[in-house]
Amino acid sequence: MKCVKCRGPAVVEVSRHHAAFCRDHFVEHVLRQVQRAIEDEGMLAPDDRILVAVSGGKDSLALWDILHRLGYRPDGLHVQLGIGAYSEESAARTRAFAGERGLTLHVVSVAEEIGFGIGELARRTRRIPCSACGMTKRHLFNRFAREHGYTVVATGHNLDDEAATLLGNVLHWQLDYMARQSAVMPATEEGLVKKVKPLVRLAEREVAAYAVLQGIDYEVDECPMAAGATSHLYKEVLNRLEHVAPGTKQQFVFGFYERGRRHFPKEPVRLQACRVCGEPTPGEVCAFCRLTERARAAASGRSASSGNGR
Ligand code: AMP
Ligand code: FES
Ligand code: ZN
Ligand code: ZN
Repeated sequence: MKCVKCRGPAVVEVSRHHAAFCRDHFVEHVLRQVQRAIEDEGMLAPDDRILVAVSGGKDSLALWDILHRLGYRPDGLHVQLGIGAYSEESAARTRAFAGERGLTLHVVSVAEEIGFGIGELARRTRRIPCSACGMTKRHLFNRFAREHGYTVVATGHNLDDEAATLLGNVLHWQLDYMARQSAVMPATEEGLVKKVKPLVRLAEREVAAYAVLQGIDYEVDECPMAAGATSHLYKEVLNRLEHVAPGTKQQFVFGFYERGRRHFPKEPVRLQACRVCGEPTPGEVCAFCRLTERARAAASGRSASSGNGR
């Protein structure tokens, strides 16, 4: 296998582009795909204050590294979820990455915010851990960015993540989610910070290869609470399709963005500041505050049945 750019020995094959690359040209390919996503989708402006949500895994550490190399000046935000050794190690890798590169890292702890970690939150409210966790992270990303003057939050979602989410939305005909699924979520309302996914043009294995080639020391273990998650099954199915027909994931996601999404009109939602925390929400109290209140009520033996946490 030879590099399509220099005919030297290739180290990574990218079948959907009918290409293989040597180390240097693979790095160039990755940077070009991210730059293209940023430009095509209008993700970042030169004067944006960027906050990268960094879990300590390959995607978000690679994203932080790539944005830095592309000349942006992003700071990091790590959310400590309180999931035992997995969280400790993820935080340690994130801190080491920031320390070695002299990057600014903020850390927010779920336990300090609400009094207990994600496992306890899910248990007390009888939510699936990943769903309580996702809601908590989205809440903390937006709130931290808003309170500290960041104009955009970047996450490490890659093409596989986006394709798996879209497949789940289609299988369950989640029309509202489909209308909103995007690599860019603009700040349409007061208090809502813009969200972007600059790795959306890269498959998971490309991001992993990039992280390894750049010597990024990332947390390899998956979250123990995500074992058996349906998103893993969707990714597996999509990988099988991709293996037989390279380009399937990209066509699925970008075909949807370009030709499918417009058939799912967005229902307009008016947001207001949550009475408790000030975050934008369609109701009076945001879903996160309702969920944490239910968890506290369950702990103190009060009825946990008020509100459904959604
Ligand atoms: P996941 O939902 O775990 O696939 O993560 C998707 C993206 O959310 C990651 O690429 C990160 O950008 C961000 N993220 C996930 N977990 C954390 C965390 N604990 N702290 C900060 N950002 C996170
Ligand atoms: Fe959120 Fe595992 S990272 S439940
Ligand atoms: Zn080459
Ligand atoms: Zn709130």
